[in-house]
Amino acid sequence: MGDEAVQATNEDATSCKLSAVQLGYWRDPYVQLMYRKSVRRAPEIHLGYYARVQGFRYLIDKVFEACDTRVQIISLGAGFDTLFWRLTDENKPIQNFVEVDFSGVTSKKCFIIKRNKELLTKVADAESEVKFSRTDLHGNRYHLVAADFSNSQNLQDKFAESEVDYQCPTVILAECALVYADSTKVDTVLSWLGKQFTSMVFINYEQINMEDKFGKVMVDNLWSRGCMLSGVAACKDKQSQISRFTNNGWESATCWTMNEVYSLLPQEDVFRVEKIEMLDEKELLRQLFEHYCITVARKNSPNFNFDSVNFD
Ligand SMILES: C[S@@+](CC[C@H](N)C(=O)[O-])C[C@H]1O[C@@H](n2cnc3c(N)ncnc32)[C@H](O)[C@@H]1O
Repeated sequence: MGDEAVQATNEDATSCKLSAVQLGYWRDPYVQLMYRKSVRRAPEIHLGYYARVQGFRYLIDKVFEACDTRVQIISLGAGFDTLFWRLTDENKPIQNFVEVDFSGVTSKKCFIIKRNKELLTKVADAESEVKFSRTDLHGNRYHLVAADFSNSQNLQDKFAESEVDYQCPTVILAECALVYADSTKVDTVLSWLGKQFTSMVFINYEQINMEDKFGKVMVDNLWSRGCMLSGVAACKDKQSQISRFTNNGWESATCWTMNEVYSLLPQEDVFRVEKIEMLDEKELLRQLFEHYCITVARKNSPNFNFDSVNFD
């Protein structure tokens, strides 16, 4: 298997997001600049991506509320994510924004940003220079770097090039990414990250309940497409999702299945999106939501209280 099958998951995720955005599940003017191949997906897939994107959005907005200083964001396995451009449009106080992915993905994203003025103008102030290599991009507000996030030395080197400030309150994001990396290596990285930063929150979206019948079918389907879930051991249940953080030096962690997240999202908007396409029955959606989760892990300092970063 290779990294190629893992990297292909980015285009699949982006095409699902594009399909949902085109139908009005949420607004994202940038996703169509990242990826143009629109393939209409099933309503359950649209609602699944809606819950995932809105869940992250809700939690990230909470971080900005909880923190009265500037915030640094690091996204592991960022793919073609457009979060940086949304937060910039909303004038959120971003100290630094770093995206990490394999070079096969970052080189494509570098190329897309470089040729698109709307994306390019936001990565740096007008008076500062944007530095490009084939795989990396450095603006004064945004950095895109090629690295294997399961290798802490690799991350450390790229963080240095991206002017990562270990004292700045930091949010680390992994949206359906950790599961593709070996869980022992991810443990080492989580422990390393926990030691480096003074004050941080980790927001992780990925699979859960992978050892039940439905979970095993999901794993087999990916396997048959050449994509092995090397990190599936951490996706057994809520306890395994939580303890991968608390066993590696993080102070606390909370995990919600996507059924729980869906019921905690603003319900007015949930009613709106449920009217976009009719579901014949909700059982498949309920099953899918039971097999994905969001975990928030925290490491606080007396100055920045990230404890309130919660759905509750
Ligand atoms: C399913 S995609 C998700 C992309 C994006 N986070 C999103 O949700 O739209 C997973 C991404 O993680 C990246 N990835 C997986 N393992 C990685 C690793 N060890 N180092 C860097 N990137 C990795 C893949 O290349 C891919 O872009």
